[in-house]
Amino acid sequence: MNQYSLLSMNDLSTADIFSILEDAQGFYNSYKDWQLPQHKALVANLFFEPSTRTHFSFASAELQLGCKIVDFVASASSVTKGETLYDTCKTFASIGYDVLVIRHMQDEYYKELENIDIPIINAGDGAGNHPSQCLLDLLTIYQEFGYFAGLKVLIVGDVAHSRVATSNKIALGKLGAEVYFAGPKIWQRAGYDFIDLDEGLKKADVVMMLRIQKERGAINTLSDEEYLHIYGLDQRRYDMLKEKAIIMHPAPVNRGVEIADELVEAPKSRIFKQMANGVSVRKAIIKRAFGYRPFKETL
Ligand code: CP
Repeated sequence: MNQYSLLSMNDLSTADIFSILEDAQGFYNSYKDWQLPQHKALVANLFFEPSTRTHFSFASAELQLGCKIVDFVASASSVTKGETLYDTCKTFASIGYDVLVIRHMQDEYYKELENIDIPIINAGDGAGNHPSQCLLDLLTIYQEFGYFAGLKVLIVGDVAHSRVATSNKIALGKLGAEVYFAGPKIWQRAGYDFIDLDEGLKKADVVMMLRIQKERGAINTLSDEEYLHIYGLDQRRYDMLKEKAIIMHPAPVNRGVEIADELVEAPKSRIFKQMANGVSVRKAIIKRAFGYRPFKETL
């Protein structure tokens, strides 16, 4: 596997994480127009699952960096003739692409790509990992608080099917935050610290709400109103939050299910800030994939 691949938050040390966050902030502060010196850099975005934010913020980041990009459509490719993921990726590497950004429904799909020697950026693997989402979450949290150690982060909802929950558990744990979980028993994971939702909300600095991932088999027998009342963030629960607490959500949001419609853009919400941060974080990830050193911008 290429040394500049980014597959899981397990691959990054705390120093690596801060380097990427510093570069992402650097793109905001001082390096808005920085581009890759090799203007013909070719990036293939291989999305085997639907995506709005990840796909198109990677595309935005790549274009801003001066890359040439292609957006692969599996249904119009030889995947329909039985081509394996390995052969698709090996083909892109053989025909001149420099970096692959891959989203795939299979957990840890990248384990079959160890012999691909160009950098692979994991844009989400099944219910496994979502490192670029995690890094934009970390940037959003750091911009708000300026530190991670001791922060109390509560992740709520369909934890069992959430790659965002797993990536944040790994990363925030490394950075010294306290990570708690709440949600329906059927979607709990072994080894994750589940607590009562209302107790968690009262002490949390960061509340991360999760969507029910029906596409991964999550079955919700409650109506939207019942789910919101029992497990979601409604006005009653919003009013329990600490003054400086923030609300996050990886999105897409199911408004009125895991979070009340009117709270998606409430003062404590950073949901659209997360999306904006996604572009600068992905610029930092792509810059790293091409082997460029960090800007060393101070956060
Ligand atoms: N947060 C996230 O991964 O959204 P998309 O599925 O739209 O990329």
